[in-house]
Amino acid sequence: MSDRGLELARDKMQSAGVAPAAVDVFSRFYRLLEGGQSGYVREDDVEPLTGLTRHADLEVDAADASAALARTAIIKLNGGLGTSMGMDRAKSLLEVRRSAEGESLSFLDVIVGQVRAARRATGARLPLVLMNSFRTQEDTLAALSGYGDLAVEGLPLDFLQNREPKLRADTLEPVEWPADPSMEWCPPGHGDLYPALHANGVVRALLDAGFRYACVSNSDNLGAAPDGEIAAWFAGTGAPYAAEMCLKTPADVKGGQLVVRRSDGRIIQRETAQTHPDDMDVSLDPERHRYFHTNNLWFDLEVLAAELDRTGGVLELPLIRNAKTVDPSDATSPEVVQIESAMGAAVAVFEGATAIEVGRERFLPVKTTNDLLLLRSDVYELTDDYRLVAQVEAPLVQLSKTYKTIGAFDARFPAGPPSLREATGLSVAGDWSFGAGVRATGDAALPEPDGGAGTVPDGATLTAGGIA
Ligand code: UTP
Repeated sequence: MSDRGLELARDKMQSAGVAPAAVDVFSRFYRLLEGGQSGYVREDDVEPLTGLTRHADLEVDAADASAALARTAIIKLNGGLGTSMGMDRAKSLLEVRRSAEGESLSFLDVIVGQVRAARRATGARLPLVLMNSFRTQEDTLAALSGYGDLAVEGLPLDFLQNREPKLRADTLEPVEWPADPSMEWCPPGHGDLYPALHANGVVRALLDAGFRYACVSNSDNLGAAPDGEIAAWFAGTGAPYAAEMCLKTPADVKGGQLVVRRSDGRIIQRETAQTHPDDMDVSLDPERHRYFHTNNLWFDLEVLAAELDRTGGVLELPLIRNAKTVDPSDATSPEVVQIESAMGAAVAVFEGATAIEVGRERFLPVKTTNDLLLLRSDVYELTDDYRLVAQVEAPLVQLSKTYKTIGAFDARFPAGPPSLREATGLSVAGDWSFGAGVRATGDAALPEPDGGAGTVPDGATLTAGGIA
């Protein structure tokens, strides 16, 4: 069955004009997918990552920070579709804040604001280059067209990543979805950064324009603002690659982590799927594996260029099998498998790769509408240099599944988010629509409303006992 699946998928990619290297990468992953488990990284064969340099302890003078930033480019991963929030376009175009003047600011506006503020403060040229996918490119470039001063001479504002067919979960053949054939395709995860950079010649272009380093991060992580201190630290290490890591709290039950391979001392990434069931508890133990991976990475562009040239952009990354439905907003549409890989898994490829401990302020991801509610709320303030700074410890937000998609979520907060500054938590059961000026306090909780849907009146205070 699956030889046929691979053949059909290859044919589909070739007739759509997908680059041959991308077809080869896909074929390699397809075979791994057929082969089942791609191999465990056993706990006995690794050591936890320990003793990292801390961002908070760096002592870098302003001139050195500016000098390092002057040789740095900012790359943002912007090809994902936010399917976990029921989206099929770039998450970065969503509103994340309102400016003091009440103007709507998207993630992209905040990212551009951070880059321009860093340029102003340091004099660095600081190019911003986005990795887009076939679904995110047009809208994103249209949104950026309002920023006439953004482009740096000789460099593109974006490059396009590859696409691949979604596979039917039952046959592993390319899925057909005549209602919207574009949904038959997906971007192959951010591990596609490497073939995409190679195919588009972006690393060479950056080197030719005089840049030596790149900081790559997710466009849905507004914590990853340009940082001259980390740039100077990275340049000083002489390392080819560095990952920013955060200390786990008990709430961080995350799978993917970096570990040190005993056999050769290299840092490697271990995904949940590569963790043996017997090792699961210890791998999640925050006392032993103290850090999680933020997906903020630093590259020495010379080493990266050499590696991409050597491999044709085909780095041997582990497979991630992502199960979805063909139409992400329709849970009853056919189940599909998306073949993906993670950018951070390339750490093993770079001899001498290193890592740095950073604070939570560099990790503000938006994966769910819970995260979005928090970032839009008064827990954060947007500074003049477009950083989102927490004013209090962030409460734990748990909205019911009614709020899962962005459309359903927005419809229930027509007047914007409630005040969360005085809350340690907000949990909402069932379906409530929020009025204006609502304030959550303590461990606020709304129980399932009587009779289907409920309304929180304007000006209400929420407590652990519901509407006060
Ligand atoms: P995630 O996989 O965490 O989020 O990507 P997503 O793809 O936006 O959302 P879901 O999983 O569909 O809900 C993390 C970052 O990597 C980018 C995303 O745009 C996001 O900034 N990304 C992801 C790509 O650039 N390309 C991809 O193929 C996948």
